[in-house]
Amino acid sequence: MNILFLNGPNLNLLGQREPSVYGHVTLADIETMVRERAAAHKAGIDFRQSNIEGQLVTWIQDAKGKFDVIVLNAAAYTHTGVALRDAISAVGVPTIEIHLSNVHAREEFRHNSLIAPVCKGVIAGFGANSYVLAVDAAIIVKA
Ligand code: DQA
Repeated sequence: MNILFLNGPNLNLLGQREPSVYGHVTLADIETMVRERAAAHKAGIDFRQSNIEGQLVTWIQDAKGKFDVIVLNAAAYTHTGVALRDAISAVGVPTIEIHLSNVHAREEFRHNSLIAPVCKGVIAGFGANSYVLAVDAAIIVKA
């Protein structure tokens, strides 16, 4: 069982970025939490971040045959990312959309996700624990 975690733009700034929305936890802290949870399931983890949509597309394309499930926090590209949606559809690796914040309780432009219709499911609003829950969800998706 191998899970690919992909993080989109500005998530490298977690810890200093809008702490009232995203908390004080850093992306490195979240990666540690994910690795602990994955170890309990004996699952392998790759954990990556890019500010560039094309890089995320390339990683999704390359996941075929290497990863069982993709967990994607596409950040702002969630709401604009046609190329990400097309990559998920094209590659066919089951994908779970996640967010730290409850995007539905925020500005209206965050209510729409272009990628949710091609994902297995969505986890949003549990802060860093959205990522931990996504490990369990990935196990369920693979089973
Ligand atoms: C986010 C929510 C997005 O709307 C926003 O653009 C982000 C982070 C989240 O994890 O809550 O950058 O994906």
